[in-house]
Amino acid sequence: MARVVSDNAEPRALPRHIAITMDGNGRWAAARGLARSAGHKAGLEPVRLCVRECSRLGIGALTLFAFSSENWSRPAEEVASLMGLFLETIDREVNDLDRQGVRLRIIGNRQALSVRLQAQIAAAEQRTAGNSGLNLQVAVSYGGRWDIVQAARALAAECASGALAVAAIDEARFGAALELGALPDPDLLIRTGAERRISNFLLWNLAYAELYFSERLWPDFDAAELACALEFFAGRERRFGHTGAQRGAEAPAGRGAAALKAAP
Ligand code: IPE
Ligand code: IPE
Ligand code: MG
Repeated sequence: MARVVSDNAEPRALPRHIAITMDGNGRWAAARGLARSAGHKAGLEPVRLCVRECSRLGIGALTLFAFSSENWSRPAEEVASLMGLFLETIDREVNDLDRQGVRLRIIGNRQALSVRLQAQIAAAEQRTAGNSGLNLQVAVSYGGRWDIVQAARALAAECASGALAVAAIDEARFGAALELGALPDPDLLIRTGAERRISNFLLWNLAYAELYFSERLWPDFDAAELACALEFFAGRERRFGHTGAQRGAEAPAGRGAAALKAAP
């Protein structure tokens, strides 16, 4: 069941899980005559803001797309500056995240990252593992296709060893082998930077996400724009394949497929 909040106005449905493709850093920098790396740095403030806001609103999970498997093809200098930024940022922010009760996880192909960054990620994850506040996933070296393939491999290995029967593989089992594991699917995907595409983000998990495309470049994303995305979400009628009549007129947007299945 979706959480419902009221900001002195009508109660509204909130997503349980928000995914964000943080796009537009390079264009933001170019518009100011700055290097692209300055745009990536400027993108940190909206990250902090989203973490604070999601925590404040009691949204259970936030998954941020920071670096895709395809972004390795960018100029070496940009890749190096992004990797440096991840290293610095994890180091600097982990205390604050821990204080806020955030549980941090990095999702993606971490073997492609430097040994130093891998070690720092492991330390930050361990440090925040016992927290019970916001589940924050940062996708680094992440691709939706990679995720599906690594899940298929893990399940195939279990089958080959005899630990798992082929017939026992169903959607729940497959989903659990993906990087997001037991988290509920994102209910809302926000993409900034005016592009309307998935760019190989959570291909499996976004099956029924509501899609909010923002014209803002990521460094310009602020609380007002997040509020617009939440307002948009609250106004959606989520049908999960049912008809509008089956769904009933007044169920909130955040109501999940399980609740619908339970409906007569
Ligand atoms: C998103 O911003 C950050 C990453 C993909 C690492 P971009 O760097 O893609 O910015 P634009 O789209 O070129 O403006
Ligand atoms: C998507 O942005 C990936 C991230 C925001 C990390 P891109 O800028 O890489 O996407 P495309 O290349 O425009 O599709
Ligand atoms: Mg981009």
